Amino acid sequence: MIVIPGPASRDLGVKVAKLLHCEAIPLEFKVFPDGESYVRLKGEVRDSDVVVIQTTSPPQDSNLMRLLLIISTAKRLGARNVKAFVPYLAYARQDKSFLEGEAVSIDTIIRLIEASGADSFYTVNVHSDDIMRRFRIPAFNLSAIPILAEHLKEMGLLGAVSIAPDKGAIKLVEEASEVLRGGYGWLEKRRDRITGKVEMAEKPLDVKGRDAVVFDDIISTGGTMVAAVSMLKKAGARRIYVACVHPLMLGDSEKRILESGAEKIIGTDSVPGKFSSVSIAPIVSNTILNEGKRP
Ligand code: R5P
Repeated sequence: MIVIPGPASRDLGVKVAKLLHCEAIPLEFKVFPDGESYVRLKGEVRDSDVVVIQTTSPPQDSNLMRLLLIISTAKRLGARNVKAFVPYLAYARQDKSFLEGEAVSIDTIIRLIEASGADSFYTVNVHSDDIMRRFRIPAFNLSAIPILAEHLKEMGLLGAVSIAPDKGAIKLVEEASEVLRGGYGWLEKRRDRITGKVEMAEKPLDVKGRDAVVFDDIISTGGTMVAAVSMLKKAGARRIYVACVHPLMLGDSEKRILESGAEKIIGTDSVPGKFSSVSIAPIVSNTILNEGKRP
């Protein structure tokens, strides 16, 4: 097994290679003055099983192109099998045409990944499970929620109530509450499709005097978390934490979330940066190891 850490997931890729006790092939990577990406594999992949790890967080389009270039190069150089690990799958939220005439962007991205030559595809807490069924190659959606919840438990939050900002995230809080053991609930989020503004419907919540953690797949502008934290504050929650798998954390989202009353923002290295306190490397390596054990 050989790991190729893409430029957007270098540290994660190196961690995974260490956990798998295998080689991490260095990649020469640069951007030409006109903005085009250049990649060169600096190692032998012929007849090997290869794992490419490259997230597609901002700048999404460039990171996607680099992913496609790495996969297709590994295949062209004779890799036997290429698994594409894309922790954050860009464009997954545009999985249908919400307004007439809109692109169904994720379908185009899927076709590009397949065309690059990937033999299988893995991602983490993709926006909707249905997306995995649109791939024609084997595709898997892993969950980082248990590992995030374990981290919060280690921070002393055993017994905290897990809250989903909308019904779509209920699965996340079901998983989280298996670890935190404080039960779960959900809010009723509404987003204006044109302005993007988020509102939470009034709803009775059993959080008075209790610690709460809001779990979501993504924090993008922070609007969802700000609305959720404000609602929990109003309902009398004690300490409120926010946790997400993909901390995009655009603009002044950190400031607004903390000002709304959150104690801390916890994310994973699916999107590397200031908020990636939890690494998904064990999830990636265990998935590969367990596949190897399958008959
Ligand atoms: C949407 O349904 C997602 O699960 C997230 O709630 C959303 O992407 C967060 O975006 P923002 O931080 O901009 O509110």
